[in-house]
Amino acid sequence: MIEIDWAEHAGRLRSVAEVEADWNAGVAGSLVRDGDKVAVDVGCGGGGMALALAKALPDGAMVVAIDADPDVLEQAREHTAGLVRCELASMDDGAEPLRQAIGAPADLIWASASVHHAGDQQAAVDALASLLAPGGRLALAEGGLPARSLPWDLGVGEPGLELRLDIAQDRWFKVMRESLPGSVPMGYGWTEALTRAGLTEVTTRSILTETSAPLSAERQEKVVEAFRVRIGQLTGEAASGHGHGHGHGHGHVEAGADWLSAEDLAAWKVLLDPESPQYLGRRKDLAVLSVRSIHVGHAPR
Ligand SMILES: C[S@@+](CC[C@H](N)C(=O)[O-])C[C@H]1O[C@@H](n2cnc3c(N)ncnc32)[C@H](O)[C@@H]1O
Repeated sequence: MIEIDWAEHAGRLRSVAEVEADWNAGVAGSLVRDGDKVAVDVGCGGGGMALALAKALPDGAMVVAIDADPDVLEQAREHTAGLVRCELASMDDGAEPLRQAIGAPADLIWASASVHHAGDQQAAVDALASLLAPGGRLALAEGGLPARSLPWDLGVGEPGLELRLDIAQDRWFKVMRESLPGSVPMGYGWTEALTRAGLTEVTTRSILTETSAPLSAERQEKVVEAFRVRIGQLTGEAASGHGHGHGHGHGHVEAGADWLSAEDLAAWKVLLDPESPQYLGRRKDLAVLSVRSIHVGHAPR
């Protein structure tokens, strides 16, 4: 049984919104169409895309950020500083609460890494599709490729540490999904889900983002913190806290978690320990390479 307490991730999601500001601005610019008046960010986290949409849309347009967690929504409210209306609602409760939260048919709905936390993903996609104005677009940022930040051989532990972390997280993800209330498997891809929701002209676009080594000190700290959070998630140790990205516990990793081998856990412990000579945060060869997919469907006119 795995249950995510999103309030514990509120500070980190705010930090993600800040780090991804440029990416969000570029994507928002490419999604917005002339005449759009209402845009929505569902499962908005720190509100990064909501803010980008508010900046991309003309004056008089409205952006609504929706999240099911009050602490997360508070972070979005602060981050979007009066440019976005923030509303508490859950995709798990069907279309009506979302419709009331938005208050008008939507020209664009964005949902990034949030629908996969709904118990019934197809029902959530159906609900979101039903909120669109004629010709409106539903954009789901889901899938893509696992990000890469580390060299294959770190000189600590067995080579391939990052790949094995991805695999462990994939197995964790399956149990997380099965643990969701009302969990329903969805044995097909996101484009099919959009099509089954009655949307047309369904397409996928994947965006590769690269920041080469050496990273700035600030970026490097965020990359290390992201590994800390991932390992903390697998070991059951909350590594995120409410702060701005600096986990507590200095990367302490509990032995005995069964998602990763004892050897890999020991390697991560050394790599995430600021006191260790092999601390990741001091390396000059960390980079960020990521590929994120955006699946878009259109409501019939
Ligand atoms: C992985 S985070 C993604 C946040 C943000 N969209 C991003 O891409 O950075 C998932 C977000 O979805 C929210 N969430 C989870 N289940 C939800 C639901 N059933 N309805 C609405 N939001 C939900 C969480 O509170 C969290 O903010």
